[in-house]
Amino acid sequence: MKNNKKIMLLAGDGVGPEVVNETTRIIKWFEDNLNLSFDLDEGLVGGASYDKFGVPLTDETLSDAMSADAILFGSVGGPQYDKVSFDKRPENGLLKLRKEMDLFANLRPAMVFPALANSSTLKREIVSGLDILIVRELTGGIYFAEPRGIEDLSNGEKKGFDTNLYTTREIERIGRVAFDLAKFRNKKVTSVEKSNVMMSGVLWKEVMSSLYQNEGKEISLNHMYADNCAMQLVRDPKQFDVIVTDNLFGDILSDTSAMLTGSLGMLPSASLGSKDAITGKRYAMYEPVHGSAPDIAGKGIVNPVAQILSFSMLLRYSFELNKEAELLEKAISLALDEGYRTKDLASKDEKVVGTSEMTDVIINKMTEINDK
Ligand code: IPM
Ligand code: MG
Repeated sequence: MKNNKKIMLLAGDGVGPEVVNETTRIIKWFEDNLNLSFDLDEGLVGGASYDKFGVPLTDETLSDAMSADAILFGSVGGPQYDKVSFDKRPENGLLKLRKEMDLFANLRPAMVFPALANSSTLKREIVSGLDILIVRELTGGIYFAEPRGIEDLSNGEKKGFDTNLYTTREIERIGRVAFDLAKFRNKKVTSVEKSNVMMSGVLWKEVMSSLYQNEGKEISLNHMYADNCAMQLVRDPKQFDVIVTDNLFGDILSDTSAMLTGSLGMLPSASLGSKDAITGKRYAMYEPVHGSAPDIAGKGIVNPVAQILSFSMLLRYSFELNKEAELLEKAISLALDEGYRTKDLASKDEKVVGTSEMTDVIINKMTEINDK
């Protein structure tokens, strides 16, 4: 059965092109071995787009991305763009994609592969078996709300300001995503805000509570302040199942949860819109949580797993290819079991493999599993 689904590749900057390139080898393996077929399209985003077109995302690339069935995104940014005006910075290409496609639900799973329990900076018993999911609101809050700016004050100083704003509807729809996902997991949702200080936090908590009254029957809900959550994530992360939180807290807490798994190089993410009522189409973009890592870019040493796992989320959430996603995840797990480590994961005595070598091993494992 042919399955010509269109995937838009937006590799971006820094290590992005390297890890996206490795992932296309995985995609090719699926085409060669499992009778699947994808149409791959490519575009420039971030600094790569700025260098060529003077903007971090052109209208044309945006519309190509919107016509694809799913987007595989690498990473954007780099120190060479520090002086570029704020609206043309590489990050703005990413933020525009999120906003224009209304990708409000960002799923950031943090799972510790058995072989990596010793790679975490935390004690083995604190992280082994960890499996949590951060559901981050991605198109609202302080990232986008107005007013924001830098203005002159009459005394010669300036003021810089942002707005954190959430509406009932925005909170409800991200809450619903978290509740629905929890039903298929350990049925426990922790809603995170700062309702002790922020009005947007007071409303967040109120709306989550009433959503829970109306739609939360199969799950449990507790509330936690964001600062406490940051502490609890490093004290006892296994107390959590699903964490639902706003855009800024989600950004911060997901970096923490990524590190629990051994390396930021292991964490994938999915950013999803809502299903169109008529066409059933849902915009979706998949990207590693790590950034462009300019310090290691171009050296062939970056860990490709976060990007490859992002492709596995793509298979699951956009194409319902669950078995294929499982095969890929199993292959990664086996590669780690056998001791293959990229530099970010290796401890003292472990042998380090490069980016392509790590992918080679994963591909070999997929073949092994498939031949059985
Ligand atoms: C992330 C990143 C982005 C964010 C940056 C690159 C704009 O840190 O996806 O977590 O802040 O959302
Ligand atoms: Mg971040």
